[in-house]
Amino acid sequence: MKPDVLMIEPLTQEAEAELDAAYRVYRLYQATDRAALLAAVGPTVRAIVTGGRLGAGNDIVDALPALEIIAINGIGTDAVDLERARARSIRVTTTPDVLTEDVADLALGLMIAVSRLICVGDRFVRAGHWLGGSMPLATRVHGKRLGIFGLGRVGRAVARRAEAFDMPIGYSERHRIDGVAYRFHPRLEDLARDSDFLVIAASGGPSTRGIVGRAVIDALGPAGILVNVSRGSVVDEEALVAALRDGRLGGAGLDVFVHEPEVSRTLWSMDNVVLSPHRASATVETRKAMAELVLGNLAAHFAGREPLTPVV
Ligand code: 8YV
Repeated sequence: MKPDVLMIEPLTQEAEAELDAAYRVYRLYQATDRAALLAAVGPTVRAIVTGGRLGAGNDIVDALPALEIIAINGIGTDAVDLERARARSIRVTTTPDVLTEDVADLALGLMIAVSRLICVGDRFVRAGHWLGGSMPLATRVHGKRLGIFGLGRVGRAVARRAEAFDMPIGYSERHRIDGVAYRFHPRLEDLARDSDFLVIAASGGPSTRGIVGRAVIDALGPAGILVNVSRGSVVDEEALVAALRDGRLGGAGLDVFVHEPEVSRTLWSMDNVVLSPHRASATVETRKAMAELVLGNLAAHFAGREPLTPVV
């Protein structure tokens, strides 16, 4: 008997074919009547496959009494109730390491795109404006001060890249990290004040919700650039939009949003903002590696072994 798997977010086509071969797969994201699907297959579903963005809400988890494992195709666990999983002895796995470098690449890309007006320039050429004159000057990236909020795997990968840009690097974390030479700021606001670019690489969830609020944004200031490749929830988006609108923040490169795929219309027309539709891990290479890890975690679990990359 193939174990029943409920999919909340799709994987790559190849990975889905493998999943279909080994499991009986129910795709919640294709269901016209989600409640009916959950009622029909809920009692026998033993695994959830989902992404970091959607996770698995308690409404779904509670409808699956036979659930044994939630395999997240991503590193964010903020959309899964880990305590409830622990209490029910449900394993939760993520896909660490394989996406780190891609996420860091995009963070650097957003920093450069905002600062050097890459998207503005692209629109300028396509609109034929170059024929009539030149664009305003942009702002230099190399040598500027970089602040990183969250010096985990992604934060460190961003820092490594920034070193090649001769950027003095600071970070904010719960505690100073042994063996790390970057400037440490216990208070995020102080890091922002001491930075030209502030990159958010901290996890989402209750402990970071809205932590990048008005005080931090004002400390970054009218020449500062905020880049977020972690979770929209970390930033108080209303405060961010207001600061950009009022010129209290220099610019922003955003891959994540509080209510994505909804993005504040006020941001759409801003030339000092680069908007990206949650794409930091979205390369062929990384999505393949992530999906393989999801499949590996499920295979290990159903073979009675310890999952490869468990968090619970
Ligand atoms: C993915 C992510 O886009 O790792 C995460 O937590 O948010 C991203 O890598 C996501 O998992 C797909 O929903």
